[in-house]
Amino acid sequence: MELAGKVAIVTGGASGIGFATAKAFLEKGAKVVIGDYNEEGGQQAEQQLKESGADVTFVNVDVSKEESVEQMVAATVKRFGRVDIIVNNAGIGVLGVTHELTYEDYHKVIAVNQDGVFFGAKHAIINMLEHGDGGVIINTSSILGSVGEGGAFAYNASKGAVNLMTKSLALQYAEHKIRVNAVAPGYVETGMVSKEALGDFYDALVDKHPVGRLGQPEEIAHAIVFLVENEFVTGTTIMVDGGYTT
Ligand code: NAI
Repeated sequence: MELAGKVAIVTGGASGIGFATAKAFLEKGAKVVIGDYNEEGGQQAEQQLKESGADVTFVNVDVSKEESVEQMVAATVKRFGRVDIIVNNAGIGVLGVTHELTYEDYHKVIAVNQDGVFFGAKHAIINMLEHGDGGVIINTSSILGSVGEGGAFAYNASKGAVNLMTKSLALQYAEHKIRVNAVAPGYVETGMVSKEALGDFYDALVDKHPVGRLGQPEEIAHAIVFLVENEFVTGTTIMVDGGYTT
């Protein structure tokens, strides 16, 4: 699929992997809506990306609320006429032992990481079926959708669900020319995952990646662009993890 002229929504686009993905899409000539609940970060991201003359706009969204996601899709259709691509990328994690995990914290993670994928896919698909030209859905999973990690119970659950939601959607909508894939990053250097923020734990994380370093957001964006462009790929979760799960 040619990205030029296509309309893409990237949730969690105010920072990290989402921001790098929005940038990569814009460089290929797509029109991009950055959906994020961080108002200040979203405005800044829009400003920064607009400096190169890109067709990008920020929409405030809480992906854990269906009405909010529906409004984001409506705002996209109002501004750009349609939705061709959605990257359901917004995500959060809560760390801690499970016997001390509250239902509220557990459900917060499920609501953003899992319900957010459902709502984003659902409302993008409604528009894709309306315009009839198909489309692409990319879900940001994680290595922790395939391998367990003590202390990441809710996150493990949500990302494992994302992998199978991806397959289920791919099967259901292939006949409508809607492809659905996921990307599963290893640890990637974003605000929360840095030497400054994590200290010695950062080095322990590096040791788990056979390539000897963590990933960069641009490397995940690169894989997302591949999953959008290659029209023979659907229903898969692609590992971009420096060998972590090997
Ligand atoms: P990040 O924290 O830089 O970006 C996440 C973005 O999502 C933020 O801009 C945040 O404001 C937004 N967000 C959070 N909850 C939201 C909500 N309810 N509604 C709308 N926006 C919301 O983190 P990063 O690393 O770029 O994460 C992106 C995705 O990549 C997440 O799904 C995460 O689980 C996944 N991932 C990240 C890895 C890493 O090591 N950084 C590893 C594997 C997966």
